[in-house]
Parts: sequence; C-alpha cells; structure tokens
Amino acid sequence: MIRTSELAAYAIPRLSRDFCNGLVGHLRMLSSLGADSVGVEVNPLFQALYSQPDDQGTVQGGSGVGGHLKLLLGKFPADAELAEAVGGGYDLFISKNVLKRGYIHPAKKVDPRMTIQLGVDDKVYVQAMHSMLNCGGLAIIYNICPAMAKQDDPYIPWADGRCPFDRTLLEDAGFEVLAYDQDDSLAIHEFWMTLNLNRGQDRAALGKTIFATYTLIRKR
Ligand SMILES: C[S@@+](CC[C@H](N)C(=O)[O-])C[C@H]1O[C@@H](n2cnc3c(N)ncnc32)[C@H](O)[C@@H]1O
Repeated sequence: MIRTSELAAYAIPRLSRDFCNGLVGHLRMLSSLGADSVGVEVNPLFQALYSQPDDQGTVQGGSGVGGHLKLLLGKFPADAELAEAVGGGYDLFISKNVLKRGYIHPAKKVDPRMTIQLGVDDKVYVQAMHSMLNCGGLAIIYNICPAMAKQDDPYIPWADGRCPFDRTLLEDAGFEVLAYDQDDSLAIHEFWMTLNLNRGQDRAALGKTIFATYTLIRKR
C-alpha cells in the first residue's frame, strides 16, 4: 500500500500539475522544492486572487532550490486553448477534492451547481490525463469527504469521494493502477490533529465524520 505521506517523499516532481487548484499553497510548496507547477482552475476569482507580481513565476526554496508556478484559467481538457497552454511532459497530476464520483457522476439528481461538469466524457478526460504525463508519471486523485447522507436526507455529492473513472477505463488508457479507492482516513485524521484542523474533535469523532480515499495511477 502506498500512503500519501510516502508519496511526497518519492514523487517530488520536476513538473507537476494540479487540476482545479483552488488555493495554491500546495503548489507553492511543490515549487519551493524545485517543481515546475501549473494550476488549472475554472473560477476566475482565483486568477484575481493571485494577480500580484510575486504570486506566480519563480518560487525560491530554502537552500537555493527553486521552481516555478503558473496558474491557468479554464476547463481542462474541454477548452482547446487551455489544453494547449497546459501542454505535456508532466511527472505528476494532482486532483484534490475535484474528481469525486459524487461531483462527476452523482448517484441522485442534484442541482447542477453542486456538481462538476468536465465538458468531455470520461474516456476523453482519462486520455488527456494520460497524454500530458511522461512515461512513469503519476496521477493522484485524492478526496476528503464528510459522511454520506442518511437514507432520507438530501444527497451530498461531495461525500462520495470514490474515483469517478472506472478502473478498466484507466487500465485501457495505459495506466497501471497502483491503488484504487484506497482508504486513507487515518492519515487525514492524523494530519488534521497535527495541524489543529479538527476543531476540538478527537480521533473517534473524526472517524465518524471525515473520510479520505485516493486512487494512484502510473503511466506505463
Ligand atoms: C471543492 S473545490 C477544491 C479546490 C482545491 N483543489 C482544494 O482541494 O481545496 C473544487 C474546485 O474545482 C473548480 N472546478 C469546478 N469545475 C471545474 C472544471 N470543469 N474545471 C476546472 N475547475 C473546476 C471549482 O471552481 C473549485 O475551485
């Protein structure tokens, strides 16, 4: 089993990309370790948030190491111009809290504003992930979720953190599946306790309210 904490140790990327980056702290961290990072986000608010001269570009790390950070706006890979700007040659693709089965393929009818429209079908999306990676490059789909709604309560799309893409689709596209819907809840509880994100909840309470799962694939 590959744990996420180990991932950072062996997969410090030369070139990484985060799909729907939202806030960019994690990309800055990767860049400070030498990565050339590209964030993609569909919400123009994030472009406005990171519009100061130092927000993008060279990121200096601790001991002379440094990388680069670039943010792009649009829907990947549906927007052809954006897809071209993203390009290829990546070592790592990260999706956190975006590619959730509940967002992409909700099990119940929900307000479309509570879902994510990729703008292409699963096959095209998975092929685009595959094309942008170098051989041996990794893609991680990591999702942190609340508990699923009780049977008669309204469906919560973001509570279904399973991979939206079927395992066979990933394999047929040319990925080796290293982990599929692997439970990582204990690691996330540890992380939250360490960073004080638990809002007073102890491990037992977190165990009932916070769940994490990841899928890790490698381009053959
Ligand atoms: C739940 S947030 C996760 C943000 C960040 N990755 C995190 O973990 O904090 C989902 C993000 O996906 C973005 N998003 C939704 N649909 C998108 C799409 N089709 N293409 C790119 N980004 C999209 C939203 O604007 C939002 O910032």
